[in-house]
Amino acid sequence: MAKFGPVETQLKSGEILLIREATGDDASDLLSYVEAISGESDNLTFGPGEFDITLEQEAQFLAGLQKQDNSIYLVALLDGTIVGSISFMGGRRARTAHTGEFGVSVLKAHWGKGIGTALMEALLKWCRGTGTIRKVNLRVRPDNTGAIQIYRKLGFKEEGRITRDLYINGVFIDSTIMGYEID
Ligand SMILES: CC(C)(COP(=O)(O)OP(=O)(O)OC[C@H]1O[C@@H](n2cnc3c(N)ncnc32)[C@H](O)[C@@H]1OP(=O)(O)O)[C@@H](O)C(=O)NCCC(=O)NCCS
Repeated sequence: MAKFGPVETQLKSGEILLIREATGDDASDLLSYVEAISGESDNLTFGPGEFDITLEQEAQFLAGLQKQDNSIYLVALLDGTIVGSISFMGGRRARTAHTGEFGVSVLKAHWGKGIGTALMEALLKWCRGTGTIRKVNLRVRPDNTGAIQIYRKLGFKEEGRITRDLYINGVFIDSTIMGYEID
């Protein structure tokens, strides 16, 4: 059963953005999308070729998420092509089911159009509607000022820092932890 009804938004460019829940049928397109974004910035937890899961595993993962009440994977499409995604993974036990962490990305060719903001607003609206999710967390590189600006704009607060959270090309990189409470 779908947890999230599709939403269409007109971007400032005039393009119509569709945000909907990902299904197992998106597995192939999503793997291509993930491979594309992996080489476009050093702001993600994986680089080119490192997201090595099979089509079948990806399809199972997406289908499985659709059955979970406190996790969701949304995709943003322009003219039927995936240009952005956001995934939120809620805790699997009673003591952690109210909280989870998300990751968001947009294809570089479409940065600055409002797609990242639209994805996060859609996620937060969905989280508020679940009734169970009371805290949304994220990790971001302290130098990812564009992303941090969006998170602050949406009401996320900085909560701390994890040192050596990433190791990229021989360099340790910290993460800033940000959070959003839902009451
Ligand atoms: C972070 C990311 C998801 C933002 O997506 P986006 O669609 O470009 O974001 P938006 O267009 O909604 O918002 C851009 C905001 O950040 C700023 N910004 C950052 N980079 C920008 C750019 N290249 N062009 C224009 N604005 C940019 C703008 O000021 C804008 O703020 P505003 O809404 O007050 O005008 C996207 O840049 C991305 O995928 N980056 C690589 C992966 C990543 O960093 N993910 C987050 C990891 S924690």
